[in-house]
Amino acid sequence: METSLNYNYRVVRQFAVATVVWGVVGMLVGVIIAAQLAFPALNFDTAWLTYGRLRPLHTNAVIFAFGGSALFATSYYVVQRTCQVRLFSDALASFTFWGWQLVIVAAAITLPLGITSGKEYAELEWPIDILIALVWVSYAVVFFGTLWKRRTSHIYVANWFYGAFILTVAILHIVNSAAMPATMTKSYSAYTGVQDAMIQWWYGHNAVGFFLTAGFLGMMYYFIPKQAERPVFSYRLSIVHFWALIFTYMWAGPHHLHYTALPDWAQSLGMVFSLILLAPSWGGMINGIMTLSGAWHKLRTDPILKFLVVSLSFYGMSTFEGPMMSIKTVNALSHYTDWTVGHVHSGALGWVGLVSMGSIYYLLPRLSGKKEMWSVRLIEWHFWIATIGIVLYIASMWIAGVMQGLMWRAVNDDGTLTYSFVESVKATFPYYAIRLAGGVLYLAGMLIMTYNTFKTVSGGQPADARIQAIAGAHA
Ligand code: HEM
Ligand code: HEM
Repeated sequence: METSLNYNYRVVRQFAVATVVWGVVGMLVGVIIAAQLAFPALNFDTAWLTYGRLRPLHTNAVIFAFGGSALFATSYYVVQRTCQVRLFSDALASFTFWGWQLVIVAAAITLPLGITSGKEYAELEWPIDILIALVWVSYAVVFFGTLWKRRTSHIYVANWFYGAFILTVAILHIVNSAAMPATMTKSYSAYTGVQDAMIQWWYGHNAVGFFLTAGFLGMMYYFIPKQAERPVFSYRLSIVHFWALIFTYMWAGPHHLHYTALPDWAQSLGMVFSLILLAPSWGGMINGIMTLSGAWHKLRTDPILKFLVVSLSFYGMSTFEGPMMSIKTVNALSHYTDWTVGHVHSGALGWVGLVSMGSIYYLLPRLSGKKEMWSVRLIEWHFWIATIGIVLYIASMWIAGVMQGLMWRAVNDDGTLTYSFVESVKATFPYYAIRLAGGVLYLAGMLIMTYNTFKTVSGGQPADARIQAIAGAHA
């Protein structure tokens, strides 16, 4: 029964299940394109199965459908529990769920048809962009409205991160998607030339910083303390972490445009801010990991905690690697190579994937009136299979990337190139095969999660927990 004394768990449950479903879909497409890079014949000469069309389908599905649903689910749960009130509006929350699903289905239809604006991570055409804006503004109203009517005195730090993510993504999306429609399926960007590139990568990098990082840090700040049953290591550090991170991310975008027509000073500025970004990133990671002080023994027996803590190690790794790759001389080697793809997936599979899975495992039984997941042992299996998959994926891409960079720059004494491009492609084949194996393992883990989710959710009593007002406590 849903009364105003209850939390709205319905929409949380919907998004939690959507996370699992879209995770399988997005990762399956990832496995297909990984297979196509090793065996190009797998596009079966069919336009909509070609790599160029499936690649944006993969990125959109994993980032916005899988990651997005995890962010909606956890933020709606966390904001209610920490503010001790029901969501601001059930109707609007339900609109965000169905609206977001419609966006995903529209993406899944238009991208394979080749309908795209051509901007990475913002490929969807203008009618879908308008729907995204409507859903996002509604999300902001539900989230901030709930904060507004909270019954606690202060705003718990997880909500600061979720709030920054929601606000910033709205601005990024609206500014970067500004375009002149020509037909229903074609538009032209409002920007041209190098300004277009800069706005695109201001968007692109902050999509990493806010969509793929800030919101997931919100998860970290709620679910790690809850699962470890320990308070956050340092509340003061979390405040410094928040302001330093959101300020610094905004300026780092030009590291995606090194050695381009972008003015040199802007490239160097991007590089410097990327180097500075190491400090808040690691400050946050340390705050998360140190929350386990006094509870380290739980890591031995609790697979959910394993997901959450190992995700932070990958976060630390990718946020060390990123600043290093932003140094112009390093970027001269890494850019255009699979090193970048390795970096992306140590963040995406290691950080975003594992923290989402851990948080959803925490939520599912609580949303279904169960004490724990149907099988804790299967969570453990999922953890190990996924972790081995990640290691195979990123290690193979590191080796392939450095090898490609070195082969492309090798010159003979007479100044001619030592290797033709196709020789570097042939040399990459074994690494593409290893990456494919890693991807298959990661997907297999996700399928295990799907089975466990189905068993946990079905037959469960979907109970909306009653609000217990405990002044000052984080319920
Ligand atoms: C089974 C798991 C996965 C596999 C096998 C996989 C595979 C791939 C492949 C083959 C590419 C294209 C690389 C290239 O162009 O050379 C790619 C790109 C990408 N994937 Fe995945 N992926 C997986 C999961 C994920 C997840 C969970 C995320 C995000 C949460 C993600 C985010 C991305 C992004 C952002 C790119 C674009 C990278 C760039 O432009 O440099 N992937 N993926
Ligand atoms: C301190 C933090 C980070 C910095 C300074 C950083 C820096 C960089 C640099 C220099 C590149 C290569 C640009 C190029 O050569 O084209 C890159 C690419 C990328 N990074 Fe990071 N990174 C950071 C953290 C992360 C995290 C945590 C994730 C994912 C969750 C991530 C996702 C990506 C993606 C998706 C790309 C590929 C963009 C594209 O070309 O499509 N990064 N990053």
